[in-house]
Amino acid sequence: MRTIIEPFRIKMTEPLPLSSREQREEWLREAHYNIFSLPSSRVTIDLLTDSGTGTMSTQQWAALMLGDESYAGSQSWFRFRDTVQRITGFKHIFPVHQGRAGERIFSQTRLKPGQVVLGNGHFDTTRANIEFAGAEAIDLVIPEGRDLAADHPFKGNLDVERLRKTIGELGPERIPFVILTLTNNTFGGQPVSLANIRETREALKPHGIPLILDAARYAENAYLIYQREAGQAGRSLLDIAQEIFSYADAALMSAKKDGLANIGGFFACHNDQWAEEFKNLLILTEGFPTYGGLAGRDLEVIAVGLLEALEMEYQVYRHATVEYIEKKFLQLGLPLVQPAGGHAIYLDAGRFLPHIPPLQYPGITLVNEVYLEGGIRTVELGSVMFGQNPGAGQEKPAPFELVRFTFPRRVYTQSHFDYIVEVMKPIRDRRASMQGYRIVRQPPFLRHFSAHFAPVQNKP
Ligand code: F0G
Repeated sequence: MRTIIEPFRIKMTEPLPLSSREQREEWLREAHYNIFSLPSSRVTIDLLTDSGTGTMSTQQWAALMLGDESYAGSQSWFRFRDTVQRITGFKHIFPVHQGRAGERIFSQTRLKPGQVVLGNGHFDTTRANIEFAGAEAIDLVIPEGRDLAADHPFKGNLDVERLRKTIGELGPERIPFVILTLTNNTFGGQPVSLANIRETREALKPHGIPLILDAARYAENAYLIYQREAGQAGRSLLDIAQEIFSYADAALMSAKKDGLANIGGFFACHNDQWAEEFKNLLILTEGFPTYGGLAGRDLEVIAVGLLEALEMEYQVYRHATVEYIEKKFLQLGLPLVQPAGGHAIYLDAGRFLPHIPPLQYPGITLVNEVYLEGGIRTVELGSVMFGQNPGAGQEKPAPFELVRFTFPRRVYTQSHFDYIVEVMKPIRDRRASMQGYRIVRQPPFLRHFSAHFAPVQNKP
């Protein structure tokens, strides 16, 4: 097979900050061993997130110049609306400044205290917005989705049997809607199959419970359906995406992922009353409904990006980089969540550093070692981010200690990926000598963003 090459060439460059190990040691100390406190000028390769960090295409930069900044009914709005409608088929479309703005307005207009939202895996901002409205969010991912090593092509699927059972137990009147997150970021960026979306829809139909999609990575999910689901290989990604949306009553989208934009998002639905209530709160807190907190030029960029994300050559290349890192990391013997999902590789720091107990945060150790070795910024998804009752008495570890290597879209080249692999070799070799961390200072919630750490051997 021929080498899969980046289906673009580079027209503009941005310098990468290079640094020495000594500098990084000093900078990490200054940041209290929390990579969220590092300025980006001290990071060589930034794999913290794929959200809003992508590179725009020439078509997007050109579209940006067409931005019509009229307050109401701008031309950019109509281009945005028509594109979103072409892909999703929804009647009502509302731009928002990013995914969580749509989550907030949707939760506040549709949820009452005591209600329960079921889903395959709520992203943390979705969960937080549901809880902020007084409701509860429950994740019903299939059992394989919770087993890091289980081999299943669609580990992001919702467990439809448990969905039926839970509806029976709670009563359908307590469940205002069900959310399928595509791909399932919380459980490793794993895709959801078309069959699973259809079965979920069928299970909800008799009860009249609406199905909502969190479509942040809808194009990557469509590509993994094309690649992994029987009978889908002959279709275009647009065709698959249209079928995905056809099963839903509404969709929430952060355009910072598969919108290939640096900011933006939308909410879309069929229901007139939902639209009316969403619109009223949108005007109050985001902006007039034809711009929703975005500039006209942002709407243009998203309209182009949503379709570019569905280009086959782009997705083939995108997934080839994920598979490349997966293969190389496995050759190094690194324990990974498998198979790799759409936007990231998740390393199992608990298995990689078995001598570090969960409450000495092996994920933080690995994140910091990767930074010290190569200036690469990754992110912990373990007991710091998801541990329970932080600070309040008995601390409970998270079920997994993961480290996410997240790939921004169209940003890094093959040699950057080779560099990442190279950096992991010495880390693998000296893992037995690595030490855990303790928390020196932490805020009452979302502690991962601002906690201060210290290496355990430095105890006073
Ligand atoms: N839904 C999913 C599945 C997400 O991954 C995110 C963001 C959001 C909603 C919220 O969107 O950031 O535009 O408000 N995920 C980022 C990440 C932050 O790093 O995974 P937003």
